[in-house]
Amino acid sequence: MRIAVLTSGGDSPGMNAAIRTVVLTGASRGHEVIGVRRGYEGLLAGDVMYFPVGSTDGITAYGGTILGSARCAPFMKPEGREEACRQLQELGIDALVVIGGNGSLTGAHLLAEAGVCRVVGLPASIDNDIGHCGLSIGVDTAVNTIVEACDRISDTARAHRRAFIVEVMGRHCGFLAMRAGIAAEADVILYGERQPPEDEVVERLRGVLRRAFGPDRHKQRVLIIKAEGVAIPTARLRERLQEHLAEDCPGVDVRETILGHVVRGGHPTALDRSIAQRLGYAAVVAAEAGASDVMISWEPYGDPGTPTMDTSVRVVPLATVLAETARLLDGTSPLVQSRLKMLAQVEDLLSR
Ligand code: F6P
Repeated sequence: MRIAVLTSGGDSPGMNAAIRTVVLTGASRGHEVIGVRRGYEGLLAGDVMYFPVGSTDGITAYGGTILGSARCAPFMKPEGREEACRQLQELGIDALVVIGGNGSLTGAHLLAEAGVCRVVGLPASIDNDIGHCGLSIGVDTAVNTIVEACDRISDTARAHRRAFIVEVMGRHCGFLAMRAGIAAEADVILYGERQPPEDEVVERLRGVLRRAFGPDRHKQRVLIIKAEGVAIPTARLRERLQEHLAEDCPGVDVRETILGHVVRGGHPTALDRSIAQRLGYAAVVAAEAGASDVMISWEPYGDPGTPTMDTSVRVVPLATVLAETARLLDGTSPLVQSRLKMLAQVEDLLSR
């Protein structure tokens, strides 16, 4: 086979490990693997690169993607996809491996339906917002980056007895805030899946600050983790708390830090490398066996899908993945409901 691999959408740590594994697995099984630069944008332009022996050595350790990435609006239009099909035919591609998040996998599904070659998706998004996937490539690194940043902020916050609001990525999914917040001993976790009125949020936070810094308490810092998807801007939330500080907890200061793209970069953790490698391997094997319009999923707990020889790796139809992704994003998925229920149960423990 002639296999093409591309990375698309927001990059995530571990994409390089996946690229290298597709390249090495393909070569070892007698296939030719080429890379498409800058995701679907590069595909439309026929912008490809080759992988001479040794060319991917060492890339596993690095975040970002050696192929480059893009969010490509023209590809989402029928004319754009027609052009992509033409390029794939011209390049003689038998199978395309698409590494990316929701938008990229939606594109992969539409391409697969066009039937010009086999299309296999790999879930890569720091937000962990991809359906039927326990952990997508990049999530573990992002969680660890947030926890480390919060530990650092906590050091200085304790030294000055301050409160900090730390905003983390996760536009439509609060998973990063939830997972990292608990690990970092956050006092409060705010996520977009629940959007109480602004005044209610402010009153709740004031209550936490009063308790934490009250005369009978020895708390040295308050950490509020806020997902990017929460509608109230972080600066505004800080200002509103500040207005009441003299009355609520005199002498205490509240600051804000927006971690932003810091969360998306950096060396992938061993777990992200391992997930990317195992999914990358399975992608080539699946394409070789004739699979198309599927995603290779990291699902150690046995969600729907066909198991592979690796018990944590499953092959799930892209249509099934995308339908569950939509439910994750609109909050109707049972998984979202169970996350919210779990958080509601521990919420009181956090600020004790
Ligand atoms: O990859 C997903 C994500 O990290 C979101 O959490 C974030 O809102 C978005 O990407 C930022 O994308 P961009 O880099 O294109 O601004």
